[in-house]
Amino acid sequence: MAQHQTLLIIDFGSQVTQLIARRLRELNIFCEIRPYQAVTEAVIQEIAPLAVILSGGPDSVTRDGSPRAPQALFDMGLPIFGICYGQQVMMEQLGGKVEAGHHAEYGRAYVAPTADHKLDGIFAGLFLTEGREQVWMSHGDRVTALAPGFEVIGTSPNAPFAITADESRKFYAVQFHPEVHHTPNGKALLENFVRMAGFTGDWTMAAYREEAIKTIREQVGDKQVICGLSGGVDSSVTAILLHEAIGEQLTCVFVDHGLLRQNEAAEVVKMFRDNYNIKLIAADEADLFIGALEGVSDPEVKRKTIGKLFIDVFQKYANEIEGAEFLAQGTLYPDVIESVSFSGGPSVTIKSHHNVGGLPEKMGLKLVEPLRELFKDEVRALGRELGLPADFIGRHPFPGPGLAIRCPGEITREKLAILQKADAVYIDQIRKHGLYDDIWQAFVAILPVRTVGVMGDGRTYDYACALRAVTSVDGMTADYYPFTHEFLGETATRIINEVKGINRVTYDITSKPPGTIEWE
Ligand code: XMP
Repeated sequence: MAQHQTLLIIDFGSQVTQLIARRLRELNIFCEIRPYQAVTEAVIQEIAPLAVILSGGPDSVTRDGSPRAPQALFDMGLPIFGICYGQQVMMEQLGGKVEAGHHAEYGRAYVAPTADHKLDGIFAGLFLTEGREQVWMSHGDRVTALAPGFEVIGTSPNAPFAITADESRKFYAVQFHPEVHHTPNGKALLENFVRMAGFTGDWTMAAYREEAIKTIREQVGDKQVICGLSGGVDSSVTAILLHEAIGEQLTCVFVDHGLLRQNEAAEVVKMFRDNYNIKLIAADEADLFIGALEGVSDPEVKRKTIGKLFIDVFQKYANEIEGAEFLAQGTLYPDVIESVSFSGGPSVTIKSHHNVGGLPEKMGLKLVEPLRELFKDEVRALGRELGLPADFIGRHPFPGPGLAIRCPGEITREKLAILQKADAVYIDQIRKHGLYDDIWQAFVAILPVRTVGVMGDGRTYDYACALRAVTSVDGMTADYYPFTHEFLGETATRIINEVKGINRVTYDITSKPPGTIEWE
């Protein structure tokens, strides 16, 4: 797919490299992140970027054998923007000097402009507030001598070469991180850079949709494709996009493992049957899964049991589809990027529960992954573009193992039924109070304890449950949602009144870390 302008980000392993891509995507610019080891002159020619950004990274350019950009990059006539380690790499490779710092700088810093440089071009709009720029620094080394052709545009107390440029070659290099929110004008600086490089912002969802459809058709030809549908946003968008591209050649398999939320299986199947004329196998395998989970209380055993059964069941149904050569998955960009860590290993762990991990190899299927260039919010935008109902797109994430990991201890049908009811009341409350979209994820966990209560004049001895609601941007870190006491009180009352089997409600106020979002 190269019908749009592309920016290449060479990743030296910074924790925030993905944020560079985020900022650029917000400007409707497509970028590819490639680990530095995988970038050669030939790769750059193949990607044919309009400009290159060199990311930050944890290494020190003063160390022998530390990462470098291909030297040829600097002779290709491309605009280049170096960030932190990327700046140091540029200076080192272009004849300047970097020293291991006795002046490490972490966190907020202020950059002041050098007196004699005109603040136009990519620096237009900077330094307007109190004549200085707030930036976010995170470096131990620093540049101590500029490469020939460069001049200083801005300095901070610990980074005399905080902003540098060789405007004749369109090379720019900064010590701070413009991609993070704590550099308020960072995005403006990046925007100036990409505009200067000739980007017009042609990465729109409408364009992506067209391109993706074309690519799918080219890849699949006249062969059959299977798509595992979980009812989540990613697999649903994948299915609908594929259906638009190849119509009748697509068959979706929706496995109901009996661990879904109340009415979920019926709703997903109805949504697809009513709105899309997609071939859909709805497999009710609840007995199989719940039977296999009987007596299992260890979280890892639960996950592994479900994962394995899922593959078996999916394979069983997929075998019925004659001539299937491809398996479609809703893999997203964050799962794909092979970012590099200090040790050179991948820094992103891929989650495979959602997708039918292991199947392609087992069945000899080839993969179709039309979302692998997208971030989560872009998948939602694509879903809107494809006409998926808004409330479907905005649904909270739901884990592959489903309610099994919200039912600590042994799973029983009785507990699952109670959990489904309590969860439905809780989500209803959240929706009624208009809070659903402010929350990343909300659910009930049923606890493996019974407690004593009094209702009417009688004694009760029923399950306790915990409400969970968190805010998050990516599920990696999270904070509990600050409901009002009124909301919590009203919700507890409703759950206890409406759900037989629960007589005590607690609210989980653990952040992540140290907790996780799910209970298991
Ligand atoms: P944790 O509990 O690890 O969850 O803080 C982070 C996010 O990932 C979801 N999650 C899963 N998603 N398969 C999935 O597809 C899984 O096995 C799984 N476990 C957790 C969780 O719901 C939250 O959004």
